[in-house]
Amino acid sequence: MAGRLSRLANGGRVFFANSGAEANEVAIKIARKRARALGQEVIVTLERSFHGRTMATLSASGQPEKQAPFAPTLEGFAHVPAGDLKALRVIFQTRPVAAFLAEPVLGESGVHVLSAEFLGEAARLCAQADALLIMDEVQTGLGRCGAAFAYERYGLLPDVVTIAKTLAGGLPMGAAVIGGRAEGVLGPGDHGSTFGAGPVVAAAANAVLDLLEEPGLFERVELLGARLETWLRRLVRAGTATEVRRLGLMAAVDLAGVNAKETALAALEAGILMNATSEVTLRFLPPLMVTSEEIDRVGRFLVEHLAAVRPALQQGVGA
Ligand SMILES: Cc1ncc(COP(=O)(O)O)c(C=O)c1O
Repeated sequence: MAGRLSRLANGGRVFFANSGAEANEVAIKIARKRARALGQEVIVTLERSFHGRTMATLSASGQPEKQAPFAPTLEGFAHVPAGDLKALRVIFQTRPVAAFLAEPVLGESGVHVLSAEFLGEAARLCAQADALLIMDEVQTGLGRCGAAFAYERYGLLPDVVTIAKTLAGGLPMGAAVIGGRAEGVLGPGDHGSTFGAGPVVAAAANAVLDLLEEPGLFERVELLGARLETWLRRLVRAGTATEVRRLGLMAAVDLAGVNAKETALAALEAGILMNATSEVTLRFLPPLMVTSEEIDRVGRFLVEHLAAVRPALQQGVGA
């Protein structure tokens, strides 16, 4: 399992954990241990990012409202706005950076796809500063974005790749694939996990990797993602949405004048499970086995429901 995962990612060694937060936790510990030796100070992450709910990963996540109830958070993190090249360059110029940790597509905050220019510049700055490039692929990885990992679509090779969610098909498993500049940082006794890679979850993960290696899967993901995007763009043309964002089968739409959470509830009544990440944004991460008929059903529901609800709202009915 470790060998397969390593070959699929960056060729590094694999640490197995039980969740995405724990996978990121080990990446953060590696960056910190290495930083002590090199005199580096800060791990750069993105505003509106999400890396987990443990204290270190909460501190890494750029969401002050989630951090506030548990303050003080850990020191040693600096958050820059996603896509802000100037802020990214300034932080690398002014602080000794230990690592750049990011989701290639910010999932929890509503599918914000990083530009190739921004992520490429982050990788270049990391190489220049001898800092680690850590990609949080917990949500984007294992086929979700039309490649084994989303970073491949940017032509990057991270030092550490963190994985969970899909990995054991719903059983609790996380992993960090540790290569490049991160190799050899952790020694015996530095880190561990009692249940990491237990036989049941490892067998499930092997089965997931079998499916992932099936020819045509990534093409299918891209095709179905494009089909979903076509439906969502119809909403923009109809004036019931303002923006669509997507990479592979990871998509979001910002609604116009209609509450996303109420829309998700209405969808549930129609037998469709969808996720509102805010009052405005609907997020779609269907299982990769979703069919084109199912995508059409969701698209048709949205077109018809939003067209029906919006005029009523505009006339003050039900407002
Ligand atoms: C990008 C990302 N990183 C980390 C996590 C945390 O994973 P877990 O809930 O398995 O700890 C999540 C969970 O939603 C996530 O989306």
